[in-house]
Amino acid sequence: MIRFENVSKRFDSGGRQIAAVENVNLNIQKGKIFGIIGFSGAGKSTLVRCINLLESPTEGKVYVDGVELTGLSEDKLREHRKKIGMIFQQFNLFKSRTVYENVAFPLRRSKLGKAEKEEKIEGLLKLVGLEEYKKSYPSQLSGGQKQRVAIARALANDPQVLLSDESTSALDPQTTKSILKLLKKVNEEMGITIVMITHEMQVVKEICDEVAVMEKGQVVEKGSVFEVFASPKQEITKAFVDSTSNLSRIYELVEEGSPMTALKEGQCILRLRYLKQDVSDALVSHISRKYELDINIIFGNIELIHENPIGGLVAIVSGERKNIQEAIELLKEKNIGVEVILDAGTVRKNNTQCA
Ligand SMILES: Nc1ncnc2c1ncn2[C@@H]1O[C@H](COP(=O)(O)OP(=O)(O)OP(=O)(O)O)[C@@H](O)[C@H]1O
Ligand SMILES: [Mg+2]
Repeated sequence: MIRFENVSKRFDSGGRQIAAVENVNLNIQKGKIFGIIGFSGAGKSTLVRCINLLESPTEGKVYVDGVELTGLSEDKLREHRKKIGMIFQQFNLFKSRTVYENVAFPLRRSKLGKAEKEEKIEGLLKLVGLEEYKKSYPSQLSGGQKQRVAIARALANDPQVLLSDESTSALDPQTTKSILKLLKKVNEEMGITIVMITHEMQVVKEICDEVAVMEKGQVVEKGSVFEVFASPKQEITKAFVDSTSNLSRIYELVEEGSPMTALKEGQCILRLRYLKQDVSDALVSHISRKYELDINIIFGNIELIHENPIGGLVAIVSGERKNIQEAIELLKEKNIGVEVILDAGTVRKNNTQCA
C-alpha cells in the first residue's frame, strides 16, 4: 500500500543541514496497522508526512497504492491525497465549527448530493459514537471525544490509508485504549491501512501488526510485532520492549544490592523469554520436577500478542549445579531465551557457572 524507496529528507536550519530522514526503505502492506516508534526527534513525523507529501522528500520516491506521489502534478496530487486521512496529537479541529461541521468540512467540494452527504456524516458520527454531540463545539468535548471527531473527519473522503501522528499521546490510558479500539475497528471493518506513529511500545503491542523502529532519521529495525518483542536486536528496541514490562527492574535491583537478589551459594537468577510462537508446555513445573530445582519467580510478565504468549519470567533457581545447567539447556532447546542475570556460583566459585 505504501512504499518508501531510498527516501531522505533534509532541512536547512540557519545554514545548518538537518537530516531528519535518511535513506529509508519500507514497505507497508495493505490492510495492516503499521507502527513507527522512536524517541523525540528521530524523524517519525517527517517520514510519515512524506506519505501525503506534507513534506516532499529531498531524495527518493514514495508510492501509495502503486502510484508514485512524488511524481504527480498539483492537481493529481490533490486527488490522490484524498485517499490518505490524517489525525494528530492535538486533534487540529476547527474551533468555531460544530462537530457536524468539522466532519462535513472535507466533503465541501464532494459531488455527493445533500441527502447523501448528511447520511454519510451521520454514519461517521455513529461509527465514532458521537451522534449525540453533533451540535457541540470542540471546546465542549473531552480529549477522547475530540479525537473521535478528528477520526470521523479523516474518514469522510473514504481514504485507503489513515496516518496517525501520536493520536493518543495527549490522552489518559483508559481513553487511549478506547481510541485504539476504534482505530482497530476502522482497520478491520473498513479495511483501511493505518500508520501509527508513537513513542509508546504499549500502543504498538496493543494494535500494530508490524513495527519499524527509527533512530536518527533511519529505520534501524523492523518486523512483525511478535518478532520484535520476542527478539529485539538493537539496544533502542530492547529499551522500548523493556518499557512495557516490569522485568528489567531486576537489573536495577541487582545493581542496588536489594535483599531480594541476595543469593545463597549455588543459586542463580535467570531471566526467561519466550522466543517462538506456540510455546504451550508447562516448562517451569516440568524442569522443577525433572531436575529437582526450586524456582522462586520474582517477576513475571506474560501476555498475548496475536494470540501467542510473549514475555518472560525472572526467577531465583536453586538446586544442584549440574541440574541447573541441564535445565538451562532444555529450556533453550524449547526455544526459551535464557539469560543468567546473577550467579552465586560465579561470585564465589568461578569454575561452576550456571551457563
Ligand atoms: N520544518 C523543519 N525545519 C527544520 N528542521 C525540522 C523541521 N521539521 C523537523 N525538523 C527536524 O527534523 C528532525 C526530525 O523531526 P521529527 O519531527 O520528524 O521527529 P519526531 O520523531 O516526529 O519527533 P517527536 O517524537 O518529538 O514528534 C528533528 O531534528 C527536527 O528538529
Ligand atoms: Mg513527531
